[in-house]
Amino acid sequence: MTGQPVPVIIDCDTGVDDALALLFAVRHPGIDLRAVTCVAGNTDVDGVVRNTLTVLEQAGAPEIPVGRGAERPLIEPVRTARHVHGVDGMGDIGLPAPTRAPADVDAVTLLRREILASPRPVTLVPTAPLTNIALLLRTHPDVVRNIERIVFMGGAVATGNATAVAEFNVWHDPEAAAVLLTAGVPITMYGLDVFQRVVVPGADVRRLRASAEPGTRLAGELLAHRPSSPDPDSGETSGGLGDAGAVCSVADPAGITTSLLPVEVSLAPGPTRGQTIVDRRARPGESEIHEGAREQPLVDVALDVDVPRFVKLWLSAVERQ
Ligand code: BDR
Ligand code: CA
Repeated sequence: MTGQPVPVIIDCDTGVDDALALLFAVRHPGIDLRAVTCVAGNTDVDGVVRNTLTVLEQAGAPEIPVGRGAERPLIEPVRTARHVHGVDGMGDIGLPAPTRAPADVDAVTLLRREILASPRPVTLVPTAPLTNIALLLRTHPDVVRNIERIVFMGGAVATGNATAVAEFNVWHDPEAAAVLLTAGVPITMYGLDVFQRVVVPGADVRRLRASAEPGTRLAGELLAHRPSSPDPDSGETSGGLGDAGAVCSVADPAGITTSLLPVEVSLAPGPTRGQTIVDRRARPGESEIHEGAREQPLVDVALDVDVPRFVKLWLSAVERQ
């Protein structure tokens, strides 16, 4: 790695894989984690704040400000993912309560403060429903002058998870995602197509779980709660990095292959609501020919990921002492 660390703010719903993202961001020398903001998603927002503070503490992070954000999406009700992330949102592995406290300002205020205070433009990394980000962009549009780009985990080119076509973070608050896409800054979409592919092999998960160092051990315990199919060789349970892959792509952009494509969010009620419609056509179709082209934001969409590269990158940062 060369040059100065990238100033980063993560907006998350910690969340097992959000925790894997935080552990990486805190420990990778190429990332300067300046703040973390919390939003309802995988669990309720107070649970997200508690989990985030605990993870930062276990990771031995410096006193990074943590802001409490939106309790619910702009329009939709709260619909948690506790069946995936456990009742406490962290796999119910018995994590201690944090001794740290959240910032005395709300997430939107904290985001504005830290974005504008950064000596260099910030990379914003939402790994959660986009409610806080939409509120920020509508409340303080001036922040875009000091945002380098937004790398968000959300959406899918192909198959969804919350519905057949919609990914959880976008489906949870589709209107907020639509606001994000028109932010007027460069945007990278780290969607399900790449998200689901980056898996840490079982032998590495076992080694992390046996570590005497609390942050490394926590990483192993969390991975064990994101089981993928067993390793064909060892039969051991491997674990998906999920949201952490989005932060890996900030530290190492060459690890993903992207294409600049028109993306829009389906806001219609019904089975497509929350779908990210990614236009991969090589040329205009009959709709554009007869009705004219519609204005659509262009997003750098991750279409491929170098899995061994990101696994190695993540492990080397998290196990770094
Ligand atoms: C996203 O939903 C959450 O459950 C994960 O933390 C990730 O951000 C994947 O759809
Ligand atoms: Ca998340």
